[in-house]
Amino acid sequence: MDLKPLQSLIKNSPQKRPSLDALLPFLQQAYLDQIKTGDFPQWRQRLAALPQISTDSISLGAKVCIGSPDDCAAATLESLRQRLLEFIPWRKGPFSLFGIDMDTEWQSNLKWDRLQHRISPLTQRKVLDVGCGNGYYGFRMLESDADLVLGIDPHIAYVAQFWLLKHFAPTLPLFVLPLSLEQLPTPLNYFDTAFSMGVIYHRRSPIDHLLELKNCLRPGGELVLESIYVDGKEGYCLMPEKKYARMNNVWFVPSIKTLMQWLLRCGFTDLKVIDESVTTLDEQRKTQWMPYESLADALDSTNQELTIEGLPAPKRVVITATRA
Ligand SMILES: C[S@@+](CC[C@H](N)C(=O)[O-])C[C@H]1O[C@@H](n2cnc3c(N)ncnc32)[C@H](O)[C@@H]1O
Repeated sequence: MDLKPLQSLIKNSPQKRPSLDALLPFLQQAYLDQIKTGDFPQWRQRLAALPQISTDSISLGAKVCIGSPDDCAAATLESLRQRLLEFIPWRKGPFSLFGIDMDTEWQSNLKWDRLQHRISPLTQRKVLDVGCGNGYYGFRMLESDADLVLGIDPHIAYVAQFWLLKHFAPTLPLFVLPLSLEQLPTPLNYFDTAFSMGVIYHRRSPIDHLLELKNCLRPGGELVLESIYVDGKEGYCLMPEKKYARMNNVWFVPSIKTLMQWLLRCGFTDLKVIDESVTTLDEQRKTQWMPYESLADALDSTNQELTIEGLPAPKRVVITATRA
């Protein structure tokens, strides 16, 4: 992963703020070299074995397409397909690489469709995507004319998937770093828009998560917060005893009113609920590229309003809020 373009973007940023310099140590090879979690060395070996294929054919629509089958020989394509399988599970997408369609677990384009026209336009914005996974939404943010997208995610396997994709589209102003939000220097006061989608209920301290997001934004910047929620009045929050929908890292599932209360307490203003939805078995499902358990295995087979633990099934909400 060539991080030099990101380094120079930060160093030469006209809106440069001293706090941004604090990001630079994370962009050094030395930082990446010391990461030992998530079998990073193995992912790097796999990345190093990718074929070199250059292409001008990039389209960042619902299916993010990089390259065309005409860009390389059939044998190279077959070897690429084998490499892509080594990076399973592919959860967020869909993608097509040189005509190889990757039907991912999530049809992430559906979430993007629900929110993209209800947030402040991303044109010329600097965007932070916290918990970006393999960067699918970052590609869509570039389609919406964002100037720069920085994704962060501590899960190395997803970061490796992004680096695989970026290997074939090296000039896009989209970067993903193996970092958690808590590791970012604070306050950055920099980004015009920050996304946190599908992350807050994984945090043991959701309030700190919101404060950290606020510190990344410039004053007046927009937070796009997406979460699962359960029905309930202001102040209500479900704390699963153990697992929730098979996940053992879910801490707090708030009601919408509680989530808004949290945002207000953290100093956000201008709150808007821009979408409420229920994930369907068509949007999240097992596929050839994610052959493990999926939503159908997390819900009660006789009553889809309950999880298999007997708790209220998740619904999803998207809220926009402004850093005052
Ligand atoms: C449910 S996935 C959501 C992925 C994507 N944002 C979406 O909406 O489809 C949650 C992601 O957040 C990441 N994550 C969890 N804790 C995080 C943290 N403290 N900072 C940044 N990312 C985090 C996980 O590794 C995972 O990739």
